[in-house]
Amino acid sequence: MARVFSGIQPSGDLHIGNYLGALRRFAREDPDSDAVFCIVDLHAITVPQDPASLRARTVEMANLYLASGLDPERVTLFVQSHVPAHTELAWLMECTASFGELSRMTQFKEKSDHRDFVSAGLFTYPALMAADILLYDTERVPVGDDQRQHLELARDVAQRFNSRYGETFIVPEAVLPTAAARVMDLQEPTNKMSKSTESPQGTVGMLDEPLVIEKKFKRAVTDNDSEVSYDVAAKPGVSNLLSILAAATDRSIDEVASGYTQYGPLKSDTAAAVIELLRPVQARYAELSADPDATQAILARGAENAREVSTPVLERAREAVGLLPRP
Ligand code: AMP
Ligand code: TRP
Repeated sequence: MARVFSGIQPSGDLHIGNYLGALRRFAREDPDSDAVFCIVDLHAITVPQDPASLRARTVEMANLYLASGLDPERVTLFVQSHVPAHTELAWLMECTASFGELSRMTQFKEKSDHRDFVSAGLFTYPALMAADILLYDTERVPVGDDQRQHLELARDVAQRFNSRYGETFIVPEAVLPTAAARVMDLQEPTNKMSKSTESPQGTVGMLDEPLVIEKKFKRAVTDNDSEVSYDVAAKPGVSNLLSILAAATDRSIDEVASGYTQYGPLKSDTAAAVIELLRPVQARYAELSADPDATQAILARGAENAREVSTPVLERAREAVGLLPRP
């Protein structure tokens, strides 16, 4: 069975970009794969987090994964910091990745820009991410387009480690989405929809109420002319709506685009499709939130599974490097 691994940070409120680009794809993973999903709380603290909201969001995140259709009987769902092997292998990864390589990460450049305090953890973040992936002998990593560079780094580090110390890690492949690879902000359609946004009107939350969703789409920025066509460079706003509508209704962009001549109906149909898309997820989320003990139990079982799978891989890496076996 092919091992699949992915992770999401419990920071900020999840939006439809996270759902279409990550959670829904996770839930649709081939039932024959052996999937491991991680709530990466250690990645979240590379930038300041309020402790109480980090705790709350970690549980919220677990419930959103489950509400999106992930079956805890079939997949492993766990919290990164519950499995100490992640930080331990991360050190070996930090000693395998180069300073230059980490300096070229565009996400680091974006996130460190305009901050007066940049943690060392923000810089070494991709080494921890490589550890997350490699610890599970992962073959496939479903992620959004924005994680492509981090995945490339994980592959490079795995290959370098293998050539230095002998075959130790499986070199993982990124699996990028075909539809809605990048959901853009409704107000600034040249920026991706983001959790750390200063544009609440441009971001549609997974837990937004239908009326709020409708209003956000109605106010979405379109383009100066009034032709409905898909052209990301010339018509970013309209193209974003078309790609959201296509992804939400599982149709191709061409098929969707041919149905409209005006912006108004495109906006209201996209809003309606997103409301329908989220309705069952929100209902299930409400049920799960009412039973926190059940979520705790799922995360405990997940951490146990994760420990079982990752321990031998960590041991393999420790031994390869020449660390003395633990007494
Ligand atoms: P993040 O919100 O950056 O923690 O990302 C969590 C997951 O959602 C990752 O797999 C991202 O690639 C994906 N993702 C984040 N933002 C978007 C977006 N605007 N469009 C599509 N996928 C996204
Ligand atoms: N860096 C990813 C993001 O921000 C989250 C992440 C951490 C991840 N570890 C991972 C994704 C391992 C895939 C695999 O979206």
